[in-house]
Amino acid sequence: MKILGINGSPRKNGASARLLENALKIADDVSPAASVDRIDLVDYDIRHCTGCDACLKEACPLDGEDDYPAVQEKLLDASAIIIASPTYFSNVPGILKDFIDRSRRLKMDRGKLRDKYFTCLVSSGLRNGGAELVTLMLNNWALSHGMLIVGSVGNYLMENYLPITTLQRDGLRSFRKPGDQDEISDKVSERIGKRLALLTTGLAKGNQPPR
Ligand SMILES: Cc1cc2nc3c(=O)[nH]c(=O)nc-3n(C[C@H](O)[C@H](O)[C@H](O)COP(=O)(O)O)c2cc1C
Repeated sequence: MKILGINGSPRKNGASARLLENALKIADDVSPAASVDRIDLVDYDIRHCTGCDACLKEACPLDGEDDYPAVQEKLLDASAIIIASPTYFSNVPGILKDFIDRSRRLKMDRGKLRDKYFTCLVSSGLRNGGAELVTLMLNNWALSHGMLIVGSVGNYLMENYLPITTLQRDGLRSFRKPGDQDEISDKVSERIGKRLALLTTGLAKGNQPPR
């Protein structure tokens, strides 16, 4: 059972990558049956969709020219997919949008990603800087592929179901560095990693809600 973590940030060691590492590490620790893999989209040459619509019927003509097929193979092989993304103008960065657009063939080819588990982890610079819109966008991408969206389940009173980290702290001029601890999103991203590992390995049933 494979859990594929995709870092959609152009930065390999930024805040999004930190959340992704949290989730993947705990998934790896929790279940030996779950194997985890991380890729950074920035390492792959993924061209823009040209809107030719060939993918309605056949493979994308760009597949022979860039690295997207290697990413697609990993998507197909995974039982669960995690996308980590920064917030860029309340949306995803261009490299992640190119990946999203190129995934259309998988949808048109009779829903090849159907029933895979999906979750997203998002970072933003500013508090209320649009990160929730990014989660909405990514979750809608997963829904359009027929994937099963998994949120965090933790303390129902104090913990959110969406792992979002924000660099801006309480004060206007107070920012954390991408690698700095963020108690809330660190906890929530770990919960997500654990939950995905349990779900993909069939161990989730009977698992008591955490306190
Ligand atoms: C082009 C660009 C646009 C950005 N737009 C926003 C934004 O709309 N809202 C926000 O809160 N932060 C914005 N940021 C800040 C990033 O979301 C923030 O630094 C994020 O944590 C970077 O994630 P990373 O370290 O994983 O790359 C933007 C950054 C860049 C480079």
